[in-house]
Amino acid sequence: MDNETHLFSLFRFHQSEYTLHHTSCTVRGDKKTRGLSSTGFGNTLAGFTSDAGIPTHVEPLDPTEPALKKYTNEFWTSRQRQASSIHEISYRACFKPQLPRFFINLLTKKGDIVYDPFSGRGTTVIEAGLSGRNAIANDANPLSRIMTEPRFFPPDYQAVEKRLLSIPRENSPADIDLSMFYHPDTEKEIISLRQYLLERHAASRDDMTDRWIAMVATNRLTGHSPGFFSVYTLPPNQAVSQRSQQRINIKRNQTPEYRDTHRIILNKTKSLLRSLTPDEQKNLNHAGKNTRLLTGDSRATPEILNDSVQLTVTSPPFLDIVQYKEDNWLRCWFNGLNDTEIGNRITMARTVEAWSAVMGAVFHELYRITRPGGYVAFEVGEVRKRSIRLEEHVVPLGISAGFVCECVLINQQTFTKTSNIWGVDNMASGTNTNRIVIFSKNA
Ligand SMILES: C[S@@+](CC[C@H](N)C(=O)[O-])C[C@H]1O[C@@H](n2cnc3c(N)ncnc32)[C@H](O)[C@@H]1O
Repeated sequence: MDNETHLFSLFRFHQSEYTLHHTSCTVRGDKKTRGLSSTGFGNTLAGFTSDAGIPTHVEPLDPTEPALKKYTNEFWTSRQRQASSIHEISYRACFKPQLPRFFINLLTKKGDIVYDPFSGRGTTVIEAGLSGRNAIANDANPLSRIMTEPRFFPPDYQAVEKRLLSIPRENSPADIDLSMFYHPDTEKEIISLRQYLLERHAASRDDMTDRWIAMVATNRLTGHSPGFFSVYTLPPNQAVSQRSQQRINIKRNQTPEYRDTHRIILNKTKSLLRSLTPDEQKNLNHAGKNTRLLTGDSRATPEILNDSVQLTVTSPPFLDIVQYKEDNWLRCWFNGLNDTEIGNRITMARTVEAWSAVMGAVFHELYRITRPGGYVAFEVGEVRKRSIRLEEHVVPLGISAGFVCECVLINQQTFTKTSNIWGVDNMASGTNTNRIVIFSKNA
């Protein structure tokens, strides 16, 4: 096969259709061609056997493009080595820590930089920190930094307890109507805590213990169990509006009971710290000192050096599926953030064309910062019941930015003997899959 001339195809996205753009090039053995790689990382995936003993199923992503392979298996599960408890911060559309861990283990070594341009609660960068890698995170929403930073510097339980004792619980009611969520005494505690945290922040006197408390309190504002400050509502990352909560209260015939906010913060602190080993703690602290947590648009990240990132693991917003603004209004209020302003910065593309334009620019920026020999793992979920296969749209975007497309990995989590498990086009709804396009930058 040495020095053989092949035709290879470069997918190009054009008016919702793929057109195949044929170019002649030379392939030397298993050396990567520009655009598509038929070997490399795919070989690792092809040789994988799942915990259930199932080998990886390999097929072309598209019948007209046999060089680009799709690898399907249960590459990771939530049952595999439990994720660290430090991840247990809820965030809309977050992925499981096992996903970034899979790529971090295979494609990086200690000290390498791992990046997430759409960082959310920080799953990728916290996982990178736990395993001794350095990290860079970026997100358009400043809540992302608030939810991520303190977990690089987890405090002692006693320090949190002592700090909370110094914060008064009494205050006047909120300047907005929160009576549908909170008992009046709970509300006073929340207002008091909010005022304390905002004042410390404004005076640049908020230390990591304060930031930890802000993160945990933000996470406990609303939820569906007595472990949260509010009466029963939707999960904490999907705060409903005041009117919707009134409707929930009528339907459930409920009024908010008193919740001890300090006790709830301490319980959640204990739970977040419960599995952290001294080594993990050391790794997190070390990574935290070198970590950059950026708040901005991932299309322009001048703070990140050229050719510096070994691996990006990320999951962008999928069209307009998740309403990050509506979901986060109460969290923004608690942290003194303007949710409308933030909402305007978040990419909400209605069409695949608009989404591709934004993601194309993101890929150009990723190409600039990726180290030669480095990788990008770009996860897209299932959109509109699989009527839109975003993974297929992602392939040409990465290639036109300069990357080699290694393959598409499908992590398929629920298999049954009777379902057509490898007929992934025919997946039963409810099947939980991650669809990840893997790119590399030529060394
Ligand atoms: C699917 S979530 C990522 C979740 C993340 N993987 C996690 O585990 O938490 C997408 C994130 O992209 C952010 N975002 C949306 N548009 C952005 C943009 N143009 N630049 C940077 N971040 C953006 C949203 O605020 C949201 O946090």
